[in-house]
Amino acid sequence: MHTELLDSVSEEVNQAIARFPQETITKIYQDQGEFFSIEQFFPQEVIDQFMAEVEIVRPKLNRNYIPTHKKGGSVSHYLLRESAPSILAFYHSPAFIAWLSHIAGVPLLLCPDDDPHACALYFYTEAGDHIGWHYDTSYYNGERYTVLLGLVDRSTSRLECRLHTKEPGREVKELSLTTDPGLLIFFNGDKLHHAVTPSAEGEERIVLTLEYVTDPTMSRGKRWFSNLKDAFSYFGLPALLRQPGMKA
Ligand SMILES: [Fe+2]
Repeated sequence: MHTELLDSVSEEVNQAIARFPQETITKIYQDQGEFFSIEQFFPQEVIDQFMAEVEIVRPKLNRNYIPTHKKGGSVSHYLLRESAPSILAFYHSPAFIAWLSHIAGVPLLLCPDDDPHACALYFYTEAGDHIGWHYDTSYYNGERYTVLLGLVDRSTSRLECRLHTKEPGREVKELSLTTDPGLLIFFNGDKLHHAVTPSAEGEERIVLTLEYVTDPTMSRGKRWFSNLKDAFSYFGLPALLRQPGMKA
């Protein structure tokens, strides 16, 4: 990877996190049941740089459809690793990981290289693309945390969130968010109940997702189940075979 490119992503990350004091964000994160969202975390120039790489991988996205639960397109970590150096540099950024770790209150680690969700793209580009209510359940021997970064949102889709669902005695709070370019969301995958409402004809919504964990080990049984789920729900059989993918 070019040093210049790495330096530029690293500088953008440093500038972004400097604008959002750790202590303030940590309080918001804790008050909201391990969830925060920040508008314009990155300026449009950074999103444009990421989008140039998105356009390179877009022809290879895998479309998936699970009746009543999920429809959309995905690009896995394997493909991004080959063709999206800026996006990968963001995922790997030590300053960003340290900032998130402080907010989460636990040391966060990258996912193993063979996890297709580690760093991935989700495309909602056809009528009816959506995902039903779910948690980003951790199959790892530890917690799993999700970052979402809005890249494109010319859609009526909304990221619907239900906070505090696992906190007995606490009222559930509902949020309905657009994922505009530059919006950053971070949450504990087992705590946030969330869904994306269906897109309409001619709309487009593209989101980058990053996954961090507290323990990158996983039992064999859970790895088997997780791999099958990824193959059928997200990235297709190439992901099961640990390959970058093919044109869908
Ligand atoms: Fe999710």
